[in-house]
Amino acid sequence: MLKRRGLILPAFEIHGGAAGLYDYGPVGGRLRNRVNQTWLDHWQSLGNIVEISCPTVTPYAVLEASGHVGEFSDFLTECTKCGEASRADHLVEDKYPNAESLSRDELASLISEMKPNCPNCGESSWGNIVAQNLMFNTKIGAGKSGRDGFLRPETAQGMFTSFTSIYRHFRERLPFGAVQVGKGYRNEISPRQGMIRLREFNMAELEYFIDPEVQPIHDFSSWSAPVCLISDEQGEISMTLSQAVNDGIIRHPTVGFFMGSTMDFLVNIGINPNHLRFRQHESTEMAHYAQDCWDVELLGSYGWIECVGIAHRGCYDLEAHEKATGQRLRAWRTFKEPKTVEIDGWTIDGAKAGPAFRALAGKVKSAIEELPAESSFPMTLNIDGQELEVRDEHVKRLQRTENMAGEWFIPHVVEPAFGIDRIIWHLLDHCYTETEKSGETYTLMTIPEIIAPVDVTVLPLYEKDGMGELAKSIHRDLCSRRNVFSIYDASGSIGRRYARADEIGVPWCITVDHDSLNDKTVTLRSRDSGEQIRVPISELEF
Ligand code: ATP
Ligand code: GLY
Repeated sequence: MLKRRGLILPAFEIHGGAAGLYDYGPVGGRLRNRVNQTWLDHWQSLGNIVEISCPTVTPYAVLEASGHVGEFSDFLTECTKCGEASRADHLVEDKYPNAESLSRDELASLISEMKPNCPNCGESSWGNIVAQNLMFNTKIGAGKSGRDGFLRPETAQGMFTSFTSIYRHFRERLPFGAVQVGKGYRNEISPRQGMIRLREFNMAELEYFIDPEVQPIHDFSSWSAPVCLISDEQGEISMTLSQAVNDGIIRHPTVGFFMGSTMDFLVNIGINPNHLRFRQHESTEMAHYAQDCWDVELLGSYGWIECVGIAHRGCYDLEAHEKATGQRLRAWRTFKEPKTVEIDGWTIDGAKAGPAFRALAGKVKSAIEELPAESSFPMTLNIDGQELEVRDEHVKRLQRTENMAGEWFIPHVVEPAFGIDRIIWHLLDHCYTETEKSGETYTLMTIPEIIAPVDVTVLPLYEKDGMGELAKSIHRDLCSRRNVFSIYDASGSIGRRYARADEIGVPWCITVDHDSLNDKTVTLRSRDSGEQIRVPISELEF
């Protein structure tokens, strides 16, 4: 049905298709767009979140600094009979659900013990296990001046590298956040589960910057019902989010707040709350940057699937980019009372460093003043992409007592990262119902109005006596309204046309009949109640 009705289709099918690549078709394109927009509106309504948009093509240095070049890999093994590549952990995950966190040796011994069959040819003969980086690499520019780069594996890094601009936008006051929706790319080893494991997918991420020394105050009162939590230490428990925060199961209140707010978003767009649970990462499973991480898992035709990851990334990313670039990625904290502090460190000797570093001398000074007292020289600093050697004669020891009004610190980050395609897959699954009607299967998709890809279908009872023209003019008027999308459908019986609209979840149908020509009223039918009422055309509200 998804393919037939133009929701989701394998991409490039006329050329044989390509695993892990899908199209959103004429109905799905708008569905995806509305989910994205509802997601953006949901977070921006908090009042201190702003949208940004960064390139998907990313220089090598950025993803080297973030740790992705070194760490972002899965274990691969190939079938020695047919050559099909598989993720080693996926071959044993039926028996070991947390196989993702096992080491190469552990996976090798499990595979030799369990002898799993190749999903392609059914044989059981596996080659060595190797770590495979998941990023798509590319060249930025051509010839000798071309630089190595990647297609981004997450949207997050652009938000960290833009920190200074976002900080300025918020008048240098934490907490605040940035959101971004866009494509992410991962060269997944074996994308066999349709929309669940794509090689190009739609991500939506929020980076929320906080001061780790300020105790956050969040209102948990709207989440008074217990939720299903699978905690690292206690296993499955049913508990309110505020209780889980108070008991230290959720290790930071802001993580708990985003868990609740993520649940609100998902339920609002049609996810069944009974098919939603939170699972905490075990320490061995956590991504290289995370201190605590909760996945939102949704139940669908592939079982429980991670659709959102809510991670406390600490100061990992800003610190990593600061180290790699020498640029300050910090926020200012004003002390309640000025503090007297002993300063013991380094600064530049202007007379020597000025001529040596010229326009970059100011930046060298800031970088040197961040160094600990035990630093030694010469050392190489990377300033604005230039490698500079700082020698003994360029610096002098700085030791004094100072009254400080405040200090620079690296903010911490809490990140909810959403996979939009997995969410769309599950909401279609949760909204899909089949019933028997006159011996035939009747499909109804109860997609909530806020994300329904089509708002209304306009149907002339017959395309004659002016009914077709009147229906078309209503259809055009509706389409010209802000954020309203209408379909004109005149093919087949009225019953068939209602069924077609129900199948893709159109919440409203408008029928133009003979009476409409005289009294300028139409029949308005509700998808959910099936109720039909007569409404003047001039009072149609969408
Ligand atoms: P998995 O363990 O399933 O590979 P992950 O832990 O690598 O997922 P994250 O790195 O946390 O996933 O990515 C954030 C979100 O992006 C996930 O919750 C998921 O919804 C989505 N996502 C990740 N990889 C893919 C993919 N290959 N195709 C579609 N969505 C994905
Ligand atoms: N930005 C989170 C992730 O991609 O895992």
